[in-house]
Amino acid sequence: MRAMTVTTGKADSAAVGEVEEPPDSDGSILVEGLLTGICGTDVELVSSGFGRGRPGSDHLVIGHESLGRVLEAPEGSGFSPGDLVAGVVRRPDPEPCPACARGEWDFCRNGLYTERGIKEMDGYGAERWRVDPYFAAPVPQQLGHLGVLVEPASILAKAWEQVDRVGSRSWYGPEQVLVTGAGPIGLLAALIASQRGYGVHVLDRATEGPKPELVRALGGTYLTDLADLHVTPDVVIEATGAGQVVFDCAKLLAPAGVMCLTGISPGPATIDVPLDALNRQLVVRNAALVGSVNAAKRHYADAVDLLQAADKAWMEGLITRTVPLSEWPSALAREPEDIKVVVDLQR
Ligand code: BGC
Repeated sequence: MRAMTVTTGKADSAAVGEVEEPPDSDGSILVEGLLTGICGTDVELVSSGFGRGRPGSDHLVIGHESLGRVLEAPEGSGFSPGDLVAGVVRRPDPEPCPACARGEWDFCRNGLYTERGIKEMDGYGAERWRVDPYFAAPVPQQLGHLGVLVEPASILAKAWEQVDRVGSRSWYGPEQVLVTGAGPIGLLAALIASQRGYGVHVLDRATEGPKPELVRALGGTYLTDLADLHVTPDVVIEATGAGQVVFDCAKLLAPAGVMCLTGISPGPATIDVPLDALNRQLVVRNAALVGSVNAAKRHYADAVDLLQAADKAWMEGLITRTVPLSEWPSALAREPEDIKVVVDLQR
């Protein structure tokens, strides 16, 4: 069958590969791959060659943002042929560490976790894949192809949970939210903020393309310059990974404010910052910076709920390009108006 492959340890080796059918050991549910989303992790994985396939394999099937249709599922698995599913990305480490033992593989302590399509496990970018029922998130039929947004939305379901948990260390009643970066992660963060009734402000560099309108459709304000932010953010969801943006926004946090860092900048960047001043600001305001990566099983269910409550046309607007599997490497090249690019695994 065809799959989105990269050669282990080799940069820029993205190819339409011919691979074996998925082994039974990947799980008892056999799935027909429909779509897979491309994100910054995939772009970086391909350009740097850091992805690792199954132990001993010379290639990795990538794709961790998945949507598929069940072909075969055992009785009692909770799934039937025809059901839509999204696969969970991370698997607990084999030891397991105390966090993984509690289903908190997103908080794995020893780094021995594995990830479909990224770290020592083949991903979901294939015509067929298998998954264990426990690691399969049911996607309601009504979501249809928008189910490919479940995995990225799970990242935000977790990030917002982190914000709420940190915020709840004292009285908590956020009103104004700043989101930095209007890519899929930033826009989904803004979606959640608007669903919760918060004031939404999104900062991005783009002056053209669909981003400003997508933000306005949420009732939010779109900024290309932080100087135009006229509120004090109680919460910042940072989705650029750019050090300067992190620094500039951390300074703006309201008393007891929380800033959640969800992005990683691709290259090593050095900036000179007056860190003592920031330190003072964070201390005297009880402000918190918290990093957040990946998601646990419950966040996939939360993601489904929040997508179901969202406007379909708005979500359609996030998917700006669909590339057939036969040409999937072209999905990695960023085009100016791209937000989420997806690969159609059936073409
Ligand atoms: C994925 C996460 C994953 C992370 C690091 C992200 O793109 O969405 O699930 O943990 O990359 O590998």
